[in-house]
Amino acid sequence: MSLSADRPDIIHHLPPDHLGRSLRADVRAGLTASPKTLPPKWFYDKLGSELFERITDLPEYYPTRAEREVLALFAAEMAAASPADTLIELGSGSSRKTPLLLDALGQAGPLRRYVAVDVSDSALLDARSELAPAFPDLELQAVAADFETQLHLLPRTGRRMVAFLGGTIGNFEPAARARFLSDVRELLGEDGGSLLLGTDLVKSPHVLVPAYADAEGVTADFNRNVLRVLNAELGADFDVMAFEHVAVWMPQEEWIEMRLRASRPMLVRLPGVEMDIRFHEGEELRTEISAKFRLEGVVEEMEEAGFSAVGQWTDRQNRYAMTLAEAS
Ligand code: AVJ
Repeated sequence: MSLSADRPDIIHHLPPDHLGRSLRADVRAGLTASPKTLPPKWFYDKLGSELFERITDLPEYYPTRAEREVLALFAAEMAAASPADTLIELGSGSSRKTPLLLDALGQAGPLRRYVAVDVSDSALLDARSELAPAFPDLELQAVAADFETQLHLLPRTGRRMVAFLGGTIGNFEPAARARFLSDVRELLGEDGGSLLLGTDLVKSPHVLVPAYADAEGVTADFNRNVLRVLNAELGADFDVMAFEHVAVWMPQEEWIEMRLRASRPMLVRLPGVEMDIRFHEGEELRTEISAKFRLEGVVEEMEEAGFSAVGQWTDRQNRYAMTLAEAS
């Protein structure tokens, strides 16, 4: 994965071979578990990131458009409620929606820095070349770091707003989510600052399931990409097309699960972790959870982590929420 090339214009916090090591640890743990699982962060090599960008344009996948609508309608209110001179965006990816927030913060008060945090160098570099011409007076910092484990390395000065958009918090299981929110609270320390959190909302499975199982099959291709990543990085021999894409709504947990179902018995060799793994016909490998939230639930979880909610906004169809909370 070309995720950790040496770039002088990127601040690197990832130790050499961090990604290889954590990929191997995740694969060892996930493929020996029952049921088998793999964490969603391994979707996003170059092809995976491109496939995700295509997903955001699909008619069925509404969250990206809904979030953009919330920002277009209310970014000014958000910025007024919590002015900041530093915006730190976690998992910034292509930073496509960031200009809406940067404009609003710049209107509300002096804005000095934008810190983009992502594991992907290529995403960070693309984001920089998009943003630099539009915001010539802004100090742009690109930080290659894993936001799940390296929040303590991020800037600790300035009046900060941390943004975690896209609904990516839904990829964490509840315990990891609580830990993550506490880590962000810890990063903000005693000087205050705020967290702006984007969350997809609970709604009919008739809307949710197609968003994760589109007619064109782009999401299926995205899902299978994790097997391509294992083939490329670990020398594995997954027959990628022998796995079917599955998306299910879990009503108890209130999350969507994406799985890959083996269409026949298989023995897969993974030399990079010195493992051979068997799949029986119909066996499912869980590749992602995407939790959906309720408005009060988001506030409760943020308050449990030491934040006080100062505002919550949704798109006009109430599909998607953004919650702003101050470190209290
Ligand atoms: C980028 C994690 C928010 O969970 O909706 C899109 C990823 N997975 N289609 C999501 C995804 C399948 C997406 N996040």
